[in-house]
Amino acid sequence: MTRQVVFSPSGRRGSFAQGTTVLDAARALGVDLDSVCGGRGICGRCQVMIGSRPGIEARPDRLSEPGPTETDYQARRPLAPGHRLGCAAEIVEDVVIDVPPESQVHRQVVRKRAGVSALPVDPVVRLHYVDVAEPDLASPTGDLERLLAALEKEWGLEGLLVDPPVLSGLQSALRQGDWTVTAAVRHQRDLVGIWPGFRDVALGVAFDVGSTTIAGHLCDLTSGEVLATSGMMNPQIGFGEDLMSRVSYVMMNDDGAERLTGVVRGALDGLIGELAAEAGVAREDILELSLVGNPIMHHLALGLDPRELGTAPFALVTTSALDTRARDLGMRAHPGATVYSLPSIAGHVGADACGVVLSEGPHRGAALQLLVDVGTNAELVLGNRERLLAASSPTGPAFEGAQISSGQRAAPGAIERVRVDRSTLEPRFSVIGQEGWSNDVGFDFGAVTGICGSGIIEAIAELFLAGVIDGDGVIRDPAGGSPWVVPSERTFSYVLSVEPRVEITQNDVRAVQLAKAALHAGARLLMDHYGVEHVDEIRLAGAFGSHIDPRYAMVLGMIPDCDLEHVSAAGNAAGVGAMMALLSAEARNEIEDVAGRIEKVETAIEPRFQEHFVAALAIPHKTEPYPELSKVVDMPARVETGQRRRRRG
Ligand code: FES
Repeated sequence: MTRQVVFSPSGRRGSFAQGTTVLDAARALGVDLDSVCGGRGICGRCQVMIGSRPGIEARPDRLSEPGPTETDYQARRPLAPGHRLGCAAEIVEDVVIDVPPESQVHRQVVRKRAGVSALPVDPVVRLHYVDVAEPDLASPTGDLERLLAALEKEWGLEGLLVDPPVLSGLQSALRQGDWTVTAAVRHQRDLVGIWPGFRDVALGVAFDVGSTTIAGHLCDLTSGEVLATSGMMNPQIGFGEDLMSRVSYVMMNDDGAERLTGVVRGALDGLIGELAAEAGVAREDILELSLVGNPIMHHLALGLDPRELGTAPFALVTTSALDTRARDLGMRAHPGATVYSLPSIAGHVGADACGVVLSEGPHRGAALQLLVDVGTNAELVLGNRERLLAASSPTGPAFEGAQISSGQRAAPGAIERVRVDRSTLEPRFSVIGQEGWSNDVGFDFGAVTGICGSGIIEAIAELFLAGVIDGDGVIRDPAGGSPWVVPSERTFSYVLSVEPRVEITQNDVRAVQLAKAALHAGARLLMDHYGVEHVDEIRLAGAFGSHIDPRYAMVLGMIPDCDLEHVSAAGNAAGVGAMMALLSAEARNEIEDVAGRIEKVETAIEPRFQEHFVAALAIPHKTEPYPELSKVVDMPARVETGQRRRRRG
């Protein structure tokens, strides 16, 4: 006698003989129902519920009564009310089977994060539990051959390639597990690990290798859950603050690349240890890793020579995504673990930019999105589902606090927020690591150590809005006699803090103008190539993008005019992209496909770049009117250079 089975949410349906298990029916229909133990009632991944639809109401007796398999499972791990093991429950009547997200192989994990509703989880490494035939004198075959035969028979895994370290532990695992083992198979193609008996722990680490900091996220490959997150300073800083100085180090020292590779790999290995300790797991539980980084960090971490990236035409060794064994990169994880590095786009637009694209997904929608990842080199991506363009712009280190008289990296003691009173010109500020503002009672001025990138941007933008800095970036004393604007050589400086002394000098303003003009010109060039005059959304990625106030970034003209409602921080978008690639084969396919379609615009050889750069030196811009910004910010009237000169004269 046959019964109708309908699976939800897939909608797949079919007729099956009474007594067929739900798992068998699901497999026959290609329904996405998970299993590690192959239907032995051990893993609990196949849980389903009885659902309903018109004509088939939800009734428990549509499936068989729970038998010993489910009772035994319940004794070890309680099943939630209404849940049944799909591998044990048999079809008795016509039935609707609900497959909850946690029982799907390809699931969507909802993240509490603006702009991303769900992340796909369909890991490239999957675990498979099998019974392996015991050796037999009468028909001698190797243990491996019998294991491979079992994997093919039970899981349809044909022609698996075997990672050599698997062989060394194979015989003991089989005997220890009494001829049952769990095998880790990558991409349904590579046998990368084996454990005695049943096992369902599969973890992964996503790395975001920045030139200043390195971040790692330890994730459960099955659930997508983030188990631990940790970060550290990139120890390569000892060889040069910025990227180019590290490339110079490599060029000037025979063993330079080797040494820089050694320290970054040491840091990544150390981070694995930290993450594992924080989550209370073993390094060997980590079966897969992913990595994003700018081209130089990416090359150094993978042991690729970055020298060509130091000079035009900035050729990468490869723009492709790469799979490299973690053990070959000096990372101690499971011996079969692989590091997947995301693809790159071009010389200065690397795997980190691909991480940002994967996370933000401009290619998934119609809105024209500008992604800005600000660092020593700004990486820019503009586009939507029609077309994507990318460029890098040589912003230099001013946004990171370098080349600024009192500049410093964003660290405790750095001024990060600045306000200037429009009538008295008196400043107030806040610093990282201290509550409140400098005009609050009890503010500890002794803790002030300098000003970081977001602080300098706010300071210059506020001074522009207060009339202390004009559209050409010249510091002046608008009413005369202000104690906050003081002569400094042949120009003026603005006194942000008296003790300790922190000033905004004319040179500081110039350094920021150069950096912001480069950023704006890069964005503008992409807009020219796309053939648009405005963008719909701007997302500011990276740590710096998270710290700067979009309003001030726009007042300065760092970014093109845009409705401020649609300008926001993207957070650690590159790291999220690395996590997505870690957890999902589909995400890897997606970014590999998209990266191949991104058109690179080379700012260095574009004649219009210089033109845009010069126009963007003005605050906010020499010719662009910034109508959207003017709706929400009271912008000073632009004074033409000639008029200012005449007035001074
Ligand atoms: Fe493992 Fe059902 S498939 S418990």
